Amino acid sequence: MSKIKLPYTKKVLEHFKNPRNVGEIENPDGKAIEGSPACGDMVQLTLKVDEKTKRITDIKFKSYGCASNIATGSIITEMAKGKTIDEAKKISWKSASEELGGLPAVKAHCSVLAVSSLREAIRNYEERHGIIHEVEPTTEEVVKRRLRHVMNPLTGLDVIRTNLISNISIKNGSDGKIIEITVDLPEDHQFANNVKKEIQEKIEHRKDVKKVIVKFLNN
Ligand code: FES
Repeated sequence: MSKIKLPYTKKVLEHFKNPRNVGEIENPDGKAIEGSPACGDMVQLTLKVDEKTKRITDIKFKSYGCASNIATGSIITEMAKGKTIDEAKKISWKSASEELGGLPAVKAHCSVLAVSSLREAIRNYEERHGIIHEVEPTTEEVVKRRLRHVMNPLTGLDVIRTNLISNISIKNGSDGKIIEITVDLPEDHQFANNVKKEIQEKIEHRKDVKKVIVKFLNN
């Protein structure tokens, strides 16, 4: 029987079979969950950053993606560990793919997904630590953009694309905005709490936001 020829380089296969830095850091300084609209897969990335040097001291990923995605998660966490957050931001899908000796073109979105989880986790760190001083006011558009990073656990795609958000209302209070988001799930749904937590995590740190209220449709 002839051997099946895989479209992957030796290094991709090696990282796929033996991925580095797999898992989840408890109490991370930065965290991201990214999903791919192209295939419905998901990557979670958590990291720890040294407050003084701004170097990434620990980084871990979990992937529900394909071999390209897992290999890219493995290589970018290796590349990012020990780097400062500014250096790590420069890791691109191109440099990750080069490091792996190339990825099949059809799988480009898989490595993009892994790389954007790294960028998003760094951004999450910067937001939580007040490094990004946001000047952009929180509008409905901004809320929607942030919610594109929250997964709908029923489908693996984001909550905006899958119409899981039925209403967004923004009220201006005297000391900040009150954002009310209605989710099209019953309150006692097994994923309701997860979705609520993720929505709040994505929005409540914004400078002009006082409170994020997540409501459910009791249908
Ligand atoms: Fe989904 Fe690669 S096909 S991550």
